[in-house]
Amino acid sequence: MEHRVKNISLADEGKRRIDWAEAHMPVLVALRKKYEKTKPLAGIRVAGCLHVTKETGVLVRTLKAAGAELTWCGCNPLSTQDDVAASLARHEGIGVFASRGVSTKEYYDDIHSAMKLNPHVTIDDGADLTVEMHKALEQGKIKGPIYGGTEETTTGVVRLRAMQNGGKLLYPVIAVNDAETKHDFDNVYGTGQSALDGIIRATNVLLSGKSVVVAGYGHVGKGIARRAAGLGANVIVTEVDPIAALKAKLDGYSVTTMNEAAAVGDVFVTTTGCKDVIMGDDIAKMKDGAILANAGHFNVEISIPELEKQSSSTSDINQHTKQYSLKNGRRVYLIGEGRLVNLAAAEGHPSEVMDMSFANQFLAVLKLAASKGTMKPRVYDIDKAQDREIAMAKLQSMGVQIDVLTPEQKAYLEGFAEGT
Ligand SMILES: NC(=O)c1ccc[n+]([C@@H]2O[C@H](COP(=O)([O-])OP(=O)(O)OC[C@H]3O[C@@H](n4cnc5c(N)ncnc54)[C@H](O)[C@@H]3O)[C@@H](O)[C@H]2O)c1
Repeated sequence: MEHRVKNISLADEGKRRIDWAEAHMPVLVALRKKYEKTKPLAGIRVAGCLHVTKETGVLVRTLKAAGAELTWCGCNPLSTQDDVAASLARHEGIGVFASRGVSTKEYYDDIHSAMKLNPHVTIDDGADLTVEMHKALEQGKIKGPIYGGTEETTTGVVRLRAMQNGGKLLYPVIAVNDAETKHDFDNVYGTGQSALDGIIRATNVLLSGKSVVVAGYGHVGKGIARRAAGLGANVIVTEVDPIAALKAKLDGYSVTTMNEAAAVGDVFVTTTGCKDVIMGDDIAKMKDGAILANAGHFNVEISIPELEKQSSSTSDINQHTKQYSLKNGRRVYLIGEGRLVNLAAAEGHPSEVMDMSFANQFLAVLKLAASKGTMKPRVYDIDKAQDREIAMAKLQSMGVQIDVLTPEQKAYLEGFAEGT
């Protein structure tokens, strides 16, 4: 199968790391065992555009075991793990078009290469593949039939809902991000831990005693704030939503505007999915040594043009960290070019949470394949029953038992409907 990876000789290293992830993803592996004999994805072409990490390697193995024909590309220029890409090309024999550090042109070339499969199903993270598929469908460059797609992250779902509202969505997409067993775990615990891992790997600063400014108190922001506080940091939250801001305040954090926080923060992490969160006025107020990182999907939260405008020179401290020497004499440090810090400077989410996210992805692909194009073009939620099934399987894999409603309890709860 055709591929474009950076270094195919890393394939065995990648395979060992995928094996490691697999040992921590029991729910997805159980699904593989359930479906590998019946092969419900036989004859189904799947194009994936999702961070090429060791956990994604386990998803690829699972889709392949269920019979799918696959191509894969990265969904962010800095998130591909080159050993995993090499392993997927050599050991799984799929078409992989991904490498770390691609230019914008190479990034889109990779997406277009993956699309050549003429997929029945797309798997996306951030909606770049879905948008390119839509352009190709409109221009008649893709033949179809396309049964539908899945979307992994909050920003992708926001984009897809905007397409739906504008009457532009041409095929159904299942919002995997909106499953409770995805966003309440992956976004909160996964990004919470791995974003701090990225900051620590890139700088090795002591977070204890530092003021950590978290922009956005949604799922990702909440997870990062809690972990930073757990490491002894003084957490300051900035928000635009009064309810989220109130939650942050009552959770015990300081809440203020970014411009106020700019003067006191030691470490800044943006998690909003919005743009222009840290701008020139904020950068001008920052202390010497301030560290900037982003955990939101796109690199638009910290203004890099403003950083450049205010700097007299830049230098690389290490592979992940760039020093900006500001004209005001202070230095600020940007991690991972303002891209997802947990993937740019660390390994992404721990396997244990991706186990649930990717179990949802796999079941969503099965649903689209079985639909054979009969689902209407709109954004679909994950079935509640699927969410509960995945949570139960995860609990069982952890040896955790829970109580079950007795028939009397069930009748009691349902009886309220009759006013009893
Ligand atoms: N790094 C990762 O691996 C990873 C994982 C999951 C999600 N994400 C991405 O992280 C981002 C956030 O996801 P989420 O699930 O937490 O979303 P969310 O909607 O739960 O939370 C976003 C929060 O940011 C706030 N916000 C929006 N604009 C703001 C601004 N200008 N200033 C301050 N606050 C603002 C919103 O009010 C909201 O509370 C998205 O881009 C998502 O795709 C990244």
